[in-house]
Amino acid sequence: MNNKKIIIAIDGHSSTGKSTVAKQLAKSLGYIYVDTGAMYRSVALFAMRKSLIDLDHFDKEGLENILIDINIRFEVNPETGLAETLLNGENVEREIRTLSVSKHVSKVAAVSKVRKKLVEQQQQMGKDKGIVMDGRDIGTVVFPDAELKLFMTATAKDRAERRYKELLERGEEVSYEDVLKNVVNRDHIDSTRKDSPLRKAEDAIQIDNSNLTLDEQFKQILQLANKTIEKN
Ligand code: DC
Repeated sequence: MNNKKIIIAIDGHSSTGKSTVAKQLAKSLGYIYVDTGAMYRSVALFAMRKSLIDLDHFDKEGLENILIDINIRFEVNPETGLAETLLNGENVEREIRTLSVSKHVSKVAAVSKVRKKLVEQQQQMGKDKGIVMDGRDIGTVVFPDAELKLFMTATAKDRAERRYKELLERGEEVSYEDVLKNVVNRDHIDSTRKDSPLRKAEDAIQIDNSNLTLDEQFKQILQLANKTIEKN
């Protein structure tokens, strides 16, 4: 049995099931899971609460000036065993997943000073390895030397359907068209921004999960992870 810990970087478009697979992997390997999207979502929520952003205005400098006041950390909920997001000590796990935060987050995530702050924190979290991190730039920027890099993708329609069901289950009143528009719009902003655009790292393994069940996908990825751990 090989006890050497590795870093697993999972990137891809929104709603491709990155976090589901990352959580399963972390649990099965005894690794830490970090949802970096939750960190960008928390900054977006902070900006919304300070009225720095709405649909037709964004005070980017205003946000840059108060980044110092933002503290994000994760805490395990003892009832579920899952990590939840704390923004300046307040549990915002539910609020950051709403469609209204999703509508603003890509603009906030395109700000270099926001990225610099969060990337530094993410690199610190992974310094002892034994971590599964998901996001958009993990294999390209945060951990370019990660031992295993995955790039997940699926059609926009499949992803919007998945996200729509999730939001309905959480009791949000949303329309499928609005969710699809948000998925397509975020893909566009995330892939075309200047700083750390979403792209597949050259050495990442691409997984299209449009036609895979969660179980099939997890088995495939766990096998890859175990093989990589053996090699290291
Ligand atoms: O993974 P998610 O949908 O919760 O991420 C929310 C947004 O945050 C996504 O639209 C892009 C941004 N993001 C990013 O730019 N870099 C990351 N490492 C993670 C998320």
